This record gives sequence, structure tokens and C-alpha cells, in this order.
Amino acid sequence: MTPGVTPLVAGNWKMNGTAASLDEIRDVCAGLDAESTLPHETLLCVPSTLIERAAGVAAESALAIGAEDCHEKESGAHTGDVSAEMIADAGAKSVIVGHSERRTDHGETDAIVQAKAAAAWRAGLTAIICVGETREEREAGKAQDVVGTQISGSVPDGMKADTTVIAYEPVWAIGTGLVPSSDDIAAMHAFIREPMASRFGEEGSLVRILYGGSVKPGNAAEIFAIPHVDGGLIGGASLKAADFLAICEGIGS
Ligand code: 13P
Repeated sequence: MTPGVTPLVAGNWKMNGTAASLDEIRDVCAGLDAESTLPHETLLCVPSTLIERAAGVAAESALAIGAEDCHEKESGAHTGDVSAEMIADAGAKSVIVGHSERRTDHGETDAIVQAKAAAAWRAGLTAIICVGETREEREAGKAQDVVGTQISGSVPDGMKADTTVIAYEPVWAIGTGLVPSSDDIAAMHAFIREPMASRFGEEGSLVRILYGGSVKPGNAAEIFAIPHVDGGLIGGASLKAADFLAICEGIGS
């Protein structure tokens, strides 16, 4: 954990969830609210269709609701897209940008991701900027080069630590049950910290750097204890309240 920062446990529901899933959010809220103090912030990023209802369920609780993507423009002729302003209007506090699934499925470049992060800030949202290498890139010894390029191209100028989160998600660890070694995670997080601190000074020293990729109740405590890891971005295991709450328990244990 980076000294002086409050860790964040964030979920990413991806393309999952309907009205019936709101019960899971209710259970997450109840579980969080049963704790007298929480050593972490907690966020669930849900599909656009659920933001408003999820935010209603989570109102007055310790759980914040976020979105999974936004368009970089405020409004206009972009059929099917939603802007950061629309997401904020629906009750989101944060938005994920540059997830590897969007980089792959929608051809999002670092420049697009950077514009989306700036759009998030414009709308008063926290931008969760995702980076991470593929298996081929890691095997070729290029993981740091790739992530370094993504960091310099995806993070806009003027970055502030209280409205930005970096999520390191190795593509090969997402949904596979594979997790890098603790040493590899620590090394990559330390590597990401360097350009952030040199480019943004204290803001870069304090921005949270999350790990994502196959975080589960059984490995969360071990991952959160790795130096330079300031929390997690959780996919599949965030869909069930019991699993997500068990992962939250891994902070500070
Ligand atoms: P999994 O936790 O399902 O591996 O997904 C991680 C992820 O992509 C979160 O954004």
C-alpha cells in the first residue's frame, strides 16, 4: 500500500446484470454498512442501464456506483454512446476508461482513452484508467515498454490524485485464473509509479494504482499485501455480493 492513500476496492460488472442483480448491490451495501469502520473505499462499476437504479439502491451507503466507459464528447450525433455528463447525471461517481476489452473490441487507442479520461474529469467523475500487457508482450519481455507507453499516452495533463485511479490489468490475467507473481506485480506497480511521480509530482506519488485480473476471495489478501498495490479492480468475483465482500475483507488483513 502506498503510505497516505486510502485503498480502493472496485468491481467491474462488464456486460452482466439486470434488475434482478440489484439484490447483490443491496447485499454489498448491507455488508459494508455492518462494519463500524472501513479501511477502504468501495465502488461497483455497472452497465449504463443499471447506473441510476444501482445508485438509488446504494444511496446513503458506503458503496459508490460507477460506469464502465464513456464517450469523450459531451453530447451529439454518436448513436449508442453515452457521455460522461450523462453517466454523472445518472448517479455515477467514477468511470472506467481504456479497459483492455474496449481497447481490443472497439479499437480504443491511448489517445482515445486520454480523451475519455479528460471527459470524465470535465463531468466531475473519477477516471479509472486501465493499462496492461498481453501474454505475447510479457513473454517477449516487453511488458514494461507497453505499459509505460500506455501510461504516457492515456493519462491527460493536469492529472489529480483524487480524481484519477490507475488500474494495472495484465490482459492474460483477466478471467483466466492466472495471476502474475507477487514480485512481478510489485515491480510493475513501482514501474508505473515512477513516470506518474516524475510527471505529476505529489499528485503522481499519491494516485492509487490498483491491480486487476483474477482477484478472488482466496487470493485477495495476498495481492493487497503486495508493495505498491493500492487496491483491486475485480471482474467476475464482483458479481456476487458474498465474493465481493470477502475480497474487501482482504484489505488490511
Ligand atoms: P476478472 O476479475 O474476472 O479477471 O476481471 C478483471 C477485470 O477485467 C476487471 O476490470
